[in-house]
Parts: sequence; C-alpha cells; structure tokens
Amino acid sequence: MAEPIWKSIVAQKQAERLSKIPTEWIIPEGILPPPKDQFVQDFPQKSGFFTQRELQLTEATASEVVAMIASREWTATEVTTAVCKRTAVALQLLNCVTEIYFEEGIVRAKELDEYLKREGKTVGPLHGLPISLKDQFNLKGLDSTIGYCSYANKPAETNSTLVTLLAEAGAIFYVKSNVPSTLMMGESVNNIFGRTVNPRNRQLTTGGSSGGEAALVTFRASFLGVGTDIGGSIRHPSSYTGLYALRPSHGRVSYQNVTNTYLGQEAVRSCAGPMCRSPEDVRLFMSSLVGTKPWLYDPQCLPLPWRTEEEKLPSKLSFGFAMGDGHVTPSPPLRRAMDITKAKLLAAGHEIIEFVPYEMATAAEIIYKMWEADGGYEFQRDTDATGEPLQDFIEKWVGHSAGVKPQTAFETWQNQHQRALLAEKFLNRWQRTAEQTSTGRPIDALIMPSTPFPAIQHGGGYPWQYGTLSPLLDLTTGVFPVTKVDLEKDRVPDDWQPISAKDKEVMDYYGKPENHEDALIGLALIARRLEEEKVTAMMHVIRNVVGVDY
Ligand SMILES: *[C@@H]1O[C@H](CO)[C@@H](O)[C@H](O)[C@H]1NC(C)=O
Ligand SMILES: *[C@@H]1O[C@H](CO)[C@@H](O)[C@H](O)[C@H]1NC(C)=O
Repeated sequence: MAEPIWKSIVAQKQAERLSKIPTEWIIPEGILPPPKDQFVQDFPQKSGFFTQRELQLTEATASEVVAMIASREWTATEVTTAVCKRTAVALQLLNCVTEIYFEEGIVRAKELDEYLKREGKTVGPLHGLPISLKDQFNLKGLDSTIGYCSYANKPAETNSTLVTLLAEAGAIFYVKSNVPSTLMMGESVNNIFGRTVNPRNRQLTTGGSSGGEAALVTFRASFLGVGTDIGGSIRHPSSYTGLYALRPSHGRVSYQNVTNTYLGQEAVRSCAGPMCRSPEDVRLFMSSLVGTKPWLYDPQCLPLPWRTEEEKLPSKLSFGFAMGDGHVTPSPPLRRAMDITKAKLLAAGHEIIEFVPYEMATAAEIIYKMWEADGGYEFQRDTDATGEPLQDFIEKWVGHSAGVKPQTAFETWQNQHQRALLAEKFLNRWQRTAEQTSTGRPIDALIMPSTPFPAIQHGGGYPWQYGTLSPLLDLTTGVFPVTKVDLEKDRVPDDWQPISAKDKEVMDYYGKPENHEDALIGLALIARRLEEEKVTAMMHVIRNVVGVDY
C-alpha cells in the first residue's frame, strides 16, 4: 500500500526545516544532552557551545536590546546572529520551531545597521529587535501550516498586517514557532513538526497554543514573541514558563491576514499579544505597535493611541483575589504563588479583597458552545484533505467519532445572548466591590491562576482551566511570574478536602510536585476591557513588589 499523502508531507517539511539550520549550529554529538536529561535550560551556559558575547546578547531583555542598538554599543547584526544560533539550539533540544528565516533576518539586520550609521537615527522604536512569531503570522514566502498537513507548501503571498507594522517600527523576523494543529489544545503538538517540550523539564509541556513561543522566549532564543489567545493560548504557556505577557482586548493588536482556524467565527475573538521577559517589554511592544496607528491599515483595529495618562496609577491599588473559581481549587504550587503575591502586595500597602469569579463555569459552557458551533466541520475538513488524524484530544472533542451536531443560527444567537447576560452580571459584581474596598473604587484588577496546575506532562487535554472568562468577556489580562514548583512545599496536604467532584479530579491530575518538577509558576491579572495601559503599569508594580523567587 502506498504511503498516505500526509506522511510524505511530514517527511518533506521536516527535511526542509533541518536543511535550514547552518551546519556549524548543529549541536555536536559529544555535547548533545541525552534524551534522559530533562533540565536543558542551562545548556547554553554549560555546554561551551556559545561565546560569552553570544550569551550576554541573548540574555538581555527586548528593552535592553533596543537601547543598546540605538546607542550603537551593539549591532543588530550581532544580536540577530546570536539569537538565531540560540534558536537553532532550541529547535534541537525543544522542538519549538516551524519555519526558519535566519538568512533573511540577518540581511535585514545589516540593512538596519547601515541605516543607523548612515542616517544617525533609528527607523523606529523597535530598531534592530528580533521578534519571533507564532506560526499563524504570515511572512511572504513561508508556509503558515498551523500544524495542518493540508496547509503545507502554500507559502504566504502577503505579510500579515502586524508583520508589516512591526517591521516599519524596526523589528526583524527570523523564526516562526510551533502550535497544536487546530490551535485548540493546551499542548503544542501536531503531525508535521511534532511536540514542543519545556526546557526546564522536557517531560513537561510549555502549554498551548502559543507553546513554541513560550519555549523560545524562556530559553532566551527570543526576546519577545507574538502569541494569540482565544481560550488561554498566551496566558497558559506564559504562566508555565515564567514570562510576562498580555492578552489584550480585541482591537488593539492587528490580527489581519493571519492564518487561523474559525475564520468568520466572531462570537469570541482570538487576540494577538506579546510574550516576553519584563513588563517594560510588554509596554515596548504595545506602545510601539499602537504608535503605528494600526486602525489606518486594519479596519478591525480601534482608533486608540497608547494612553499614557491611563498608566498613572493611584499609590494604593486594590486587587481582587481568587483561590480558584468556586468549583475547582488551585493545586499547592499555585496556592503558594497566590500567598506570596498577597503577602508582598499587602506589605507594600496595597489592598486585597476576596473576589471569586463564580461566572467561570458558565463562561466555559458558553465558550465551548461557540467553539463547537460547526460541529467540528472545519477541523475535520482540513485534516481529511490529506487523511491525517486529528490529535486525540480534538478527535474525542469534535472529531468525526464525537458526532457533535452543528448548531442552528438560532441556537448560536441564544448562546451569544447568554454571554451578554453573563457579562452584565460580572460587571455589576465587579462594580459592587467598591462597597468593600477602602479606596472608594471597585477593584483595579483580579489576581488568580490561569490554570489550577503548573506545566503538565505530555498528553494534551487537561480537565479544567480558569482561562475562558477573559476571552469570552474580552477582558484585558496580563501574566506575571512568581515562583517555581517546590518538591517539599507543594505536596497535597493529607487533610485536603475537595469542594466538588471536579475539584478532586483536578487535584488527582496534579498528583504530586514530582510530576511538575522545575516548572515555573505565573499568575493572571484580569482587568476590564481595553485596559492595556493600566494592566501593563500594574505588571510593573507587581514586578517591583513581588519579584520572582527562582
Ligand atoms: C514581508 O516582510 C518581510 C520581513 O519584514 C520583508 O522583508 C518583506 O519585504 C515583506 N514583503 C512584503 C511584500 O511586504
Ligand atoms: C491580505 O491578503 C489578501 C490575499 O490573501 C490580499 O488580497 C490583501 O490585500 C491582504 N491585505 C493586506 C492588508 O495585506
């Protein structure tokens, strides 16, 4: 029997990817960590494969890079070359890359260096900064397969609008990163490129769907990556890998000419946003991008400049605090991260009140109905085209075998109306917190985990998450790192009592800290709609007050 068509596409795409790694960047056999080595985060420092200079350049934050290039202490060419080399290594150790664009990136870096020398000024606020892109973003001439064999060998004919705007501001592109096919899984795995793993423990995932970006940025193979999020896809991977990140409300960051699933599904919107290593970098990305006036190029973007007055915060902030959603409680490492954050914010004079988002369970029901409205037709069509199987988790959810019925237009409208009712209820509750705070204002933001557990082992599809309310109600949400899993402190106490059957299932799923060894722990900062400036400013405050303890 002839080999199925999808398998030959896989072989060809993987060979093509390998051929684009310069041979001098292939890790020599003698220093290649064996598969049993789980912690590879320190490979760049320990292996001797990088020069001190390469390490120094790649370990800087995005804001440091643009400052050093603008002051001509570093060149864009040396920074881009170093980060490409580190990306080549990340690909070999973590399998986080889909498309390689090293040569083009280095050519662009040289042009920018020459421009700065010739003109004595930068082209824009991102001059010389290499930025990595989730596989969805189109770069002319490269595939955006988003993990589907049927999308392979159809190179993009235009750049995504976001790519054009970032390039105008001075950014350099050099790589695209791995995702789950369909983009609708909590783990970045697909038939073409395989599975992305976590550099702090290769038995763990970096989450999904922006899991390739999370691996690149946490491994310092990227200063700043662009992810997308319709149900947790920026927030979960960033929480699992110790990053700062932002899931903006719809309309701030252009999503035009981006390869996507659910085209035309507008009940719940996917949004693009930055994943990076400091709050300054979140601000750099957002203010630079918004500064290009994206609404003049993308009619979906709102005509909102970066509002610096919204960044001015009162000296005392009031945070809502939620140990879960009232149905499922966080596992011990997430509880500990919440406790650390609470103690430090209180000590710094901020206020904490309990505010449990009970609406989350309903949000999950509504959002799943939105995601399933076509009965899985699109996912089935795009995998059937080459005969490739859907990932197990997706097959069981909306594959042919699941037999999910497509909804009628009327059912869809009813479901969307349920969202409007839920949004109203949530806003009213949020407003009423003004009766509890000492500031006279409602809470400034809500702090809680993004998922009840830290980075999980491979196998996709986890039993519960806290990520659906933000996209459903379009709430601006930040992510900040706090701590890492502690094998002593993060055991489930003997006297722990579940609050529901689901709670027990989730805690069993967490199991013990050894299942998540070395994973980093971040939390979410949930605000109102279109509060990107305020959330970014609050992440600065939290970084200064809470910091990270790993
Ligand atoms: C697409 O983007 C790349 C990378 O910035 C750039 O080199 C190229 O000129 C762009 N192509 C078009 C058609 O805009
Ligand atoms: C988006 O892509 C389509 C082709 O797929 C093209 O016709 C259109 O001009 C592009 N828009 C922008 C703003 O690049």
